[in-house]
Order: sequence, then C-alpha cells, then structure tokens
Amino acid sequence: MASSPVISVFILFLCTTSSFSLPFIVLHGIGDQCSNKGMTQFTQELSNMSKSQGFCIEIGDGAWDSWFMPLLEQLFAIRWNFSVKKMKELSNGYNIVGLSQGNLIGRGVVEFCDGGPQVNNLVSLGGPHAGTASVPLCGSGIFCKIADALIKSEIYTDYIQEHLAPSGYLKLPNDMDAYLQHCRFLPKLNNEVPEERNSTYKERFSSLKTLVLIMFEQDTVVIPKETAWFGYYPDGQFTPVLAPQQTKLYIEDWIGLKTLDKAGRVRYINVTGNHLGISENDIKKHVVPYLKDEDVTIDNEVPQALAALQGYTSNYTWPTSIKSYFSDLLGLPDIY
Ligand SMILES: *[C@@H]1O[C@H](CO)[C@@H](O)[C@H](O)[C@H]1NC(C)=O
Ligand SMILES: *[C@@H]1O[C@H](CO)[C@@H](O)[C@H](O)[C@H]1NC(C)=O
Ligand SMILES: *[C@@H]1O[C@H](CO)[C@@H](O)[C@H](O)[C@H]1NC(C)=O
Ligand SMILES: *[C@@H]1O[C@H](CO)[C@@H](O)[C@H](O)[C@H]1NC(C)=O
Ligand SMILES: *[C@@H]1O[C@H](CO)[C@@H](O)[C@H](O)[C@H]1NC(C)=O
Repeated sequence: MASSPVISVFILFLCTTSSFSLPFIVLHGIGDQCSNKGMTQFTQELSNMSKSQGFCIEIGDGAWDSWFMPLLEQLFAIRWNFSVKKMKELSNGYNIVGLSQGNLIGRGVVEFCDGGPQVNNLVSLGGPHAGTASVPLCGSGIFCKIADALIKSEIYTDYIQEHLAPSGYLKLPNDMDAYLQHCRFLPKLNNEVPEERNSTYKERFSSLKTLVLIMFEQDTVVIPKETAWFGYYPDGQFTPVLAPQQTKLYIEDWIGLKTLDKAGRVRYINVTGNHLGISENDIKKHVVPYLKDEDVTIDNEVPQALAALQGYTSNYTWPTSIKSYFSDLLGLPDIY
C-alpha cells in the first residue's frame, strides 16, 4: 500500500519523536476556573487516558473574568498567562480541548496569535462557534427573562460589549446589522465583516490537522445547539437551523471550514446529553484519540438535516454574584 519513501519517512519520524507525544491544553467555559475540582479532574483524566501531558490554562482571574472580561481581553490575558511562546512544553506543537466559550478563545489563539507553536488538533465540546441566540446559563426565572430581554436590547452597545463576555458572541439573527457593526469578537473571529476579512485567519484555521466538533443532542445552553457544528439560523429569522454546509461562512469559506471539511479534517460528532454533559465513553471515543500521537481513524459521520428551534430555557442558575451584577448593571431590584 505505502510506497517505500513514505515508509522511511515514517520510520524517521518514529525514531526522532517516539519519546514524546504532543501535550494538550484545556480552555474552560464561562463561570469556571482551573482550580475548580471538575476542571482539575477533567484535565487529569484526559491526561491519564491519552498518556499526554495536559495543562488547564487559566484565563485572566478565572470565573469572574470569564463572564465580564471581553473576549479579546481574555485572549490577551491568556496569551500573557500561558505564554504559549514561552511554555517550552508546547514548543513542538500542541492540541487544544475547548469547553463551550473556551472554544472561542481557542480559535482566537489559532487565528490571531502570531508566532506561537503550531496547534495540531482542536477538540471542541459545545462551542458557540456560529454564535448563540440566548445569554448562556440563564434559567427560566423572571429575573433571567427580564435580564435576557434587556441584554438583548442593549447587547450591541459599547457598555455591554465592554462588560459582558458573552456579548462577544451573542448573535441575534434579527439584528444582524448591529451585530456586524458592534459585536467585538465573533464577527472578527469568523471573518464575517466583508471589508475586514483577513486571509491570515483563514490560513491558520485551515492549517489545523483535525477539527473535532462535538454537539450535545440535548443542549439548552447554546442556542441553537447546532452552533457547535457551525450551524446557525439564516440572517433575519430564528428558523430553520441551517446545517453548517448551508451557511455563508461555509459556502464562501470565510475561515477555511469548507477547506478543512473537503480535506476530510472535520469530525461532526453528536453525543447524548445536555451542555458539556459528556459521558466517559464518549470522551474515550471522540476526545482521547485526538490527544494521542498516532493517527486516528476517520468515522464518516455526516450531518443530517438539522432539528428545528429548541426551547430557550435551561436548568442552570446563575451564581448570586452574577445576578447582583446584572441587577446593578440594569438598575433592577433583586427580584429573582
Ligand atoms: C490518573 O492516574 C493517576 C495515576 O495512575 C491516579 O492516581 C489518578 O487518580 C488518576 N486521575 C484521574 C482523574 O483519573
Ligand atoms: C494568571 O493566572 C493566575 C491564576 O492561575 C492569576 O492569578 C493571574 O492573575 C493570571 N495572570 C494574568 C495576567 O491574567
Ligand atoms: C491579518 O492578521 C494578521 C495576524 O494577526 C496581521 O498580522 C495582519 O496585519 C492582518 N491583516 C490585515 C489586513 O488586517
Ligand atoms: C444525533 O444522534 C441521535 C441519536 O443517535 C439522532 O437521533 C439524531 O438525529 C442525531 N442528530 C443529528 C443532527 O445528526
Ligand atoms: C429542566 O427543566 C425542565 C422544565 O422545568 C424539566 O422538564 C427537565 O426535566 C429539566 N431537565 C433537567 C436535566 O433537570
């Protein structure tokens, strides 16, 4: 099957690199921090299963900053903190495991950061890659409904853009002009603004070896759940959900998703569970193989026609500090 030059190159590769496998970093989601037991365990478990060195990278000061530091600044904080360029463990390249919002930071590292080591695989769990149409983690209580409504009406103002991280990727399909003009993170990350597209972002994103996009079948936190695959609503309406291949981002290949897909380097994975509620079995099947050195086998999971609009509520509740922050921000009494 393989010709001999290929074999000898392969052997050479084995000989020179057999003593290490690429390390990985974990980028946590909103409201989380590396010192939380869950994150420590998750990173450790992935390390154990993959036999690769893993690092949970703190973003700014942790949970609070994950909410209130604009994503571009978070990206800056992470560059400082983990100093990809300086961490010698990462100097031969590394893999990224992104959790929810952490995926946007991860893609920011891939697309925006100059001169860092090569990112090999990006494994995304529940990433709001195409945006989300609802404020994350908000439950169905009256407070959340009011806050959600107010935030939506104010979301693209400078004040909110400067003070609330999710505003960097909240994308209301019925307010696309404001989104493109004033939202400060996702339009840039996704090369969505026609006159501001930067081919370097595309080049870097499409140089990933494998992009693993894990969607949670019962996700009620990122809306629509298909955003984890780059699926989203058409401009101007909340229905239907377009499959990734039906979006303009894909068709016009703004960031190289189509390029990657055509090269067979994107895995669209669909797992049972609510947001980030991944089973150990699915971790072994869909995450661990991409943190190991050996080549992974391709499963030919092809996205089907996507489901209709999901419900807007989730069962998560906001921490008290977050609620009172919003009360202050929005001038609300503590009514929740
Ligand atoms: C990882 O492996 C170490 C050593 O085998 C073990 O002590 C630890 O409990 C494991 N951690 C997890 C989270 O699986
Ligand atoms: C780096 O992370 C630590 C916590 O791990 C935090 O105390 C520190 O403020 C962070 N530094 C920057 C510049 O964000
Ligand atoms: C595109 O992004 C790269 C990397 O951040 C930057 O060096 C370059 O100046 C940008 N190009 C334009 C036209 O903005
Ligand atoms: C995800 O998997 C479930 C169960 O296997 C299936 O019913 C559903 O149609 C799949 N969804 C997509 C979008 O492929
Ligand atoms: C979430 O809340 C809905 C309605 O309140 C309920 O039917 C559902 O069982 C809850 N889900 C979980 C996972 O608790």
